[in-house]
Amino acid sequence: MSDPRVNHAGVTRRVLLSFMGAGAVGLVGAGAAAAHDRGPRPPRRDERQADAATFLGSHQPGIVTPAQTNLTFASFDVTGGSRDELVALLRSWSQIADAQMAAHRARGLTVTIGFGASLFITSGGQDRFGLAGARPGRFTDLPSFPGDRVESAISGGDLCVQVCANDAQTVAQTLRDLQRAADGSATVRWTQAGTGGSAGRGAPTPRNLFGFKDGTANIPPNDTAEHNEYVWVQTGDGPDWMVGGTYLAVRKIAMHVDTWEAQPVATQERVFGRTKSEGAPLSGGSERTRPDFRATDASGARLIDRDSHVALAHSIDRQRMRILRRGYTYVDGTLPSGSPDAGLFFLAFNRDLQSQFIPMQRQLSTSDLMNQFVTYRSSSAFAIPPGVASAGGFVGEGLFGA
Ligand code: HEM
Repeated sequence: MSDPRVNHAGVTRRVLLSFMGAGAVGLVGAGAAAAHDRGPRPPRRDERQADAATFLGSHQPGIVTPAQTNLTFASFDVTGGSRDELVALLRSWSQIADAQMAAHRARGLTVTIGFGASLFITSGGQDRFGLAGARPGRFTDLPSFPGDRVESAISGGDLCVQVCANDAQTVAQTLRDLQRAADGSATVRWTQAGTGGSAGRGAPTPRNLFGFKDGTANIPPNDTAEHNEYVWVQTGDGPDWMVGGTYLAVRKIAMHVDTWEAQPVATQERVFGRTKSEGAPLSGGSERTRPDFRATDASGARLIDRDSHVALAHSIDRQRMRILRRGYTYVDGTLPSGSPDAGLFFLAFNRDLQSQFIPMQRQLSTSDLMNQFVTYRSSSAFAIPPGVASAGGFVGEGLFGA
């Protein structure tokens, strides 16, 4: 029986045929372009210190913080029945996060805590924690999207923690501490480890498992105006307890690297709308040049395919739309086929899921040329409350009226 996670149903005739005879350059694997640069240089000590986030502040750390090299994400289900136990858990997690981040500042540790929609809903007619009336109206679980192959065991959860650092051991130990503190009141539902990150300022854009630069048009870590427009919840957006917070969309996306590597580079470039070597838009220029989605060749054909990943992700209803992507590559071993069980653990922070991530994902799931090479395996959404303003506070204190 074939592995249900791998959809090798195939590359549509459209993508393949569009490049037959187009001077196919041979089969160039994902690693080939990556050989052009040596990958991100390690950050200098002063850069690491400057980038290190603190736990206390108006926003939680680990969101606009430049992505560290290691991540483990954990989702928990609350088993303790009372609101007081839940508050005690959040207090304890906040204390651990504060102490560990201070202790591991040099390793860039961040801990980010969030709430699933299930925390707010009534279960069997019971409002478990008295939170039903406090759910932000626009915050729900993600809808299902065309082509989704979602596994519920690795989706959702009442609470989440995102632990990131420039060192795998620090991440593992911190998650272990958080898990132990949850003992008796919450159990781990699923976890996911990943690697990636930008490894400091001025580092080249990292490449994904398809060999393409990933993160070029992302919202930069220091662009406060964009953060306020697209990431942080503003006054009036919904309940006050979320102001300064954000909403996280999580998708585990398997990347079928063997099928991908069998494509000519020109096909691969058409899928993304950017060149493989430099990451430049197919409309011309270099990596940082703005794509011209209307540019055509002599025959009138668009230089950037309308259904390329970048064209579809760039705007919604012709309006420029942005999200803060903070995804990590995962490699979970090897599939029975011998191919890597690998892909992108996609994380994106949004001011409002309903007008940002959800319509963007719908557009991508419907038409993205990339869909033939990926399978969406999980789907989760979390409300990430604002930061803890002062010592002794805890994440979500506004929700509980503390
Ligand atoms: C395995 C899955 C994915 C891969 C391999 C991938 C890869 C890429 C690459 C190579 C780029 C171009 C460089 C850049 O600007 O970063 C890009 C851009 C982008 N992607 Fe993805 N992506 C994936 C999934 C997603 C998903 C699920 C979303 C959102 C629902 C998304 C949203 C975006 C956005 C907003 C851009 C920038 C578009 C622009 O304004 O130019 N991506 N992605």
